Amino acid sequence: MAERKKTYRTYRRAILFAGVLVVLACGVYPLMSVTSDMSFCSSVCHEMGVHREELRSSAHAQDKDGKEIGCAQCHIPPGFGPRYMAVKTYSGVKDVFVHLINSPVILDRAALQISARRFVDDDNCRSCHTDLYRDAKGEKEISDIGGISHDAYLGKNGQAKSNCAGCHANIAHLPKFDRRLEVNREFAERVRNKEALRNAN
Ligand code: HEC
Ligand code: HEC
Ligand code: HEC
Repeated sequence: MAERKKTYRTYRRAILFAGVLVVLACGVYPLMSVTSDMSFCSSVCHEMGVHREELRSSAHAQDKDGKEIGCAQCHIPPGFGPRYMAVKTYSGVKDVFVHLINSPVILDRAALQISARRFVDDDNCRSCHTDLYRDAKGEKEISDIGGISHDAYLGKNGQAKSNCAGCHANIAHLPKFDRRLEVNREFAERVRNKEALRNAN
């Protein structure tokens, strides 16, 4: 029994460590590099080239200053450090990593979405979206339904159980199976147009 527990712990630590490496490779590197070049990220985790392509067609291609938004800006938590990794990211990183080992080439994106939505930290979103009652550019007020939802998020009107990414799905990525959704119509069109262009060349 004790033996099994020990094996489990060793296994858990190995996954955690490997998960940290994957996240570091894919996430922190672009942050540290002088240019916001993401080619390293997408070649180390080369199946993720498709995520970069989608990101570039999304509303999150560029920040308000026109600079390309990098993977790390959403995927690496602001308070990133050993304690954070140990306490908070364990579950999400583990899920992602187990998927990466089990299916190194074809990612099970439907399964990954679930852990990724839990794992993306709200503080990342809020570092850019500081006023939750104005649209992404801070130009106009958000819709009534948006206001009610954000009241709930902030605990002013009941309490929303979801984090940002739980309500705002597909803000940066759009796997094929989500392209049929009406809410993703414009995003899907941009992704398809880019694919058509690439195939034509
Ligand atoms: C603007 C925030 C944002 C940026 C930038 C971003 N992501 Fe994501 N990512 C998310 C969110 C939110 C999810 C949760 C699933 C969803 O709703 O799409 C996610 C999910 C994922 C997933 C698992 C689900 C899937 O669609 O396969 C992977 C892998 C991933 N991201 C990799 C990347 C890589 C690589 C980059 C950089 C090229 C990147 N992300 C940039 C927000 C972001
Ligand atoms: C680096 C800054 C940055 C980060 C980080 C970021 N956003 Fe954004 N977000 C933007 C910008 C810039 C726009 C687009 C503004 C425009 O062109 O209208 C945007 C647009 C949006 C929109 C409206 C467009 C759409 O796709 O529906 C939503 C909703 C949104 N962001 C939610 C989020 C959430 C949730 C997160 C965290 C997972 C997040 N953002 C992280 C900068 C950011
Ligand atoms: C309970 C669900 C819920 C949660 C949690 C939530 N939102 Fe929203 N949010 C909405 C809804 C609904 C809208 C309105 C969408 C519309 O009008 O089409 C909205 C609107 C927005 C918009 C404006 C989009 C635009 O261009 O008008 C941004 C930006 C945004 N949310 C960011 C965030 C961020 C950042 C977080 C986390 C701090 C968050 N939201 C948490 C439901 C939610």
